[in-house]
Amino acid sequence: MEWLRSIAASSRRSSDKIELDRWINGGLQRVLCMQGGDDDGSYANNSEATASAITLCKPLLSNAIQSMMLMECNICTSVRIADLGCATGYNTLATIDMVVETVRVRYLKERGLEPELEVFFSDLPSNDFNSLFRSLSKRASSREYYAAGVAGSFYHRLFPRGKLDIAVSLSALHWLSKVPDEVLDKRSAAWNKGRAWIEGANKQVVEAYAKQSEKDLEDFLSCRKEEIARGGLLFILMGGRPHMQSNQLADSDSRAKHPFTTSMDQAWQDLINEGLIDEDTRDMFNIPAYMRSIEEVERGIKRIGGFQIERIEYKRIVEHSEEKQKEWMRDPLSYGRAKANLVRATLRPIADAHLGPYLSHQLFNRFQTRVSSDLNLLHTTCFYGVIVLSAIRM
Ligand SMILES: C[S@@+](CC[C@H](N)C(=O)[O-])C[C@H]1O[C@@H](n2cnc3c(N)ncnc32)[C@H](O)[C@@H]1O
Repeated sequence: MEWLRSIAASSRRSSDKIELDRWINGGLQRVLCMQGGDDDGSYANNSEATASAITLCKPLLSNAIQSMMLMECNICTSVRIADLGCATGYNTLATIDMVVETVRVRYLKERGLEPELEVFFSDLPSNDFNSLFRSLSKRASSREYYAAGVAGSFYHRLFPRGKLDIAVSLSALHWLSKVPDEVLDKRSAAWNKGRAWIEGANKQVVEAYAKQSEKDLEDFLSCRKEEIARGGLLFILMGGRPHMQSNQLADSDSRAKHPFTTSMDQAWQDLINEGLIDEDTRDMFNIPAYMRSIEEVERGIKRIGGFQIERIEYKRIVEHSEEKQKEWMRDPLSYGRAKANLVRATLRPIADAHLGPYLSHQLFNRFQTRVSSDLNLLHTTCFYGVIVLSAIRM
């Protein structure tokens, strides 16, 4: 055990100095991303829940494209589409295929011409764009549009004024630009001691996250207001909750099971109990995600102006398919592995940056053990909430 602690200590020392910068001085934007590549712990192989959310909202996206004002888009034969927070998996490619096809059919029907389509796949610079473009090059449909990667934060300007006709952002905008400073400050009432996330935290922690989320949403909308041409479409699907009063997960049965809550906190505590990390190291880690309510989103749109909401709704997404659940019941250990892979896919880059790869690996192993040892979780169905918004740039 001693050797384990000494590896842990050296792994920690290398990351201590830049710890604070990482979370609060814009450093998060350099490390946040989904796990790249295509192994078992990659986002590409763990995006079933986001895929279900996208499937559910496709008819809304298709209707939203129908309601765009074609006449006011850029030069009529050229349409520019951006996917903001595209990640690496197949979701972005499938979504773009669907958008491209809907736009193409509409142009053919209403204008009798084939538009030229330009697609910008955009994400943080830490995103694995290589995997994304490798997948794109393997697809027969990749010649139907010109593709480019745009690396940068969607909380900043990414395109020249009036450049875009359609901007979509799917399952990405609930990621904040940073962890609020107060949440990591021991002297603050909003210090989130002992928890990796805000669900179940005290009022001050939730307020600090809500304030950060409000600023981030306004920054996002101000940038898109500049970049989207008049008549163009902004379509967002993000983790969300129905009302201001509902807690982050909206569904109380989901708390024990959500990958950011109970099992995650237990896994951190295991590392402390085993002497691999101290409490400060745990308390400096917070997951920078916030589930906005419909009211919060509407307020942001109203405050920034320039968009007319066509549709906004809250939807509940079941976490995985019935077939998956049956498969896991036959082999419960594979359930723990699958859940750990899901959190690896989402959190490994920031856990690696915070703890170093060795301890981060230990954290996800403890998470896997915790999840596998509570089979009640396997029998509970958990839901994610999302908000879907379509708005036209006026
Ligand atoms: C859960 S993934 C969703 C990916 C994809 N849209 C899908 O539906 O499968 C969230 C993505 O948002 C990206 N992201 C988070 N914060 C971002 C930011 N500030 N700017 C750009 N992308 C961001 C992450 O890097 C990640 O790739």
